[in-house]
Amino acid sequence: MEFVLIDMFSLAMDKMKDLRLEETVIRSELFDVDGVPLAEPIARIWDQVWKFKARPDDVLIATYAKAGTTWTQEIVDMIQQNGDTEKCKRETTYKRHPFLEWYCAEPPSARYSGLELAEAMPSPRTMKTHLPVQLLPPSFLEQNCKIIYVARNAKDNLVSYYHFHRMNKGLPDPGTWEEFVQKFMTGKVPWGSWYDHVKGWWKAKHKHRILYLFYEDMKENPKREIQKIAKFLEKDLSEEVLNKIVHNTSFEVMKENPMANYTKDFEGIMDHSISPFMRKGIVADWKNHFTVAQNKKFDEDYEKKMSDTSLVFRMEL
Ligand code: A3P
Repeated sequence: MEFVLIDMFSLAMDKMKDLRLEETVIRSELFDVDGVPLAEPIARIWDQVWKFKARPDDVLIATYAKAGTTWTQEIVDMIQQNGDTEKCKRETTYKRHPFLEWYCAEPPSARYSGLELAEAMPSPRTMKTHLPVQLLPPSFLEQNCKIIYVARNAKDNLVSYYHFHRMNKGLPDPGTWEEFVQKFMTGKVPWGSWYDHVKGWWKAKHKHRILYLFYEDMKENPKREIQKIAKFLEKDLSEEVLNKIVHNTSFEVMKENPMANYTKDFEGIMDHSISPFMRKGIVADWKNHFTVAQNKKFDEDYEKKMSDTSLVFRMEL
């Protein structure tokens, strides 16, 4: 697979050499990989990502960024560890579940290779990806791996992504709120179009072993959705363990859990004082962000982009 250079990365790299450590984190630009914008380091190692060899007992958690990935990861780990909170604290989310395509060489404190981590991990592995289904390494479907996909309504997903761009220097500068809304609507953001992402995976679920979940359903009734995940993973949970998982994967508890709230990873890259990773964790925060005019424009565009799918989202509960 080819990727096309669409920025001045090498120029930026030259400039970087003159800067002091705290200034060396230069926001990544986006490169086009088969029509999908990906962060430059990922595009650079794309051939290796594409050739990744999944194993039949791998579990993959796939999402558009900011749809509730970390939450789902914690739920899955707690199910796999039968509710043992100490075992779930063995490492941070980021290291417990390799982030398949993520690659970061600089700064050294934030070095990460999802591929290396995954390859070194004994089976059974659980991994995470934000790739749209057409860029998923083919071995996952060939091996019939279990895949859990979580989707979140476009407006809340956009709001969360905007704040995440502000605090995460591993992503491009979001620009103003108005500019970011435009970028999101046109798919000029990392991992591309939200619309294509949710629709692509929705279509794939009819043919493959994919459990398709919604953030809004998880908020409405976490116990019910956790049970769905447990069933998909073929795990029997006692009522006591189930209740323990509901409690420990609540927003409030996860926000205080350093092994799940990203305060121990991405050092020098994520600045939680700008916006914490565990920000609000609610449905319909978009109402605090969209102007009436932005909302109207967004809705009109949404209707067109989503007219060819049976997929329905709840924008509020
Ligand atoms: P907000 O920015 O709207 O608060 P991801 O893990 O895919 O990056 O998604 C992050 C979003 O999920 C953030 O949304 C975060 O607060 C929310 N989130 C994380 N854990 C959660 C939980 N236990 N319950 C509800 N939302 C959670």
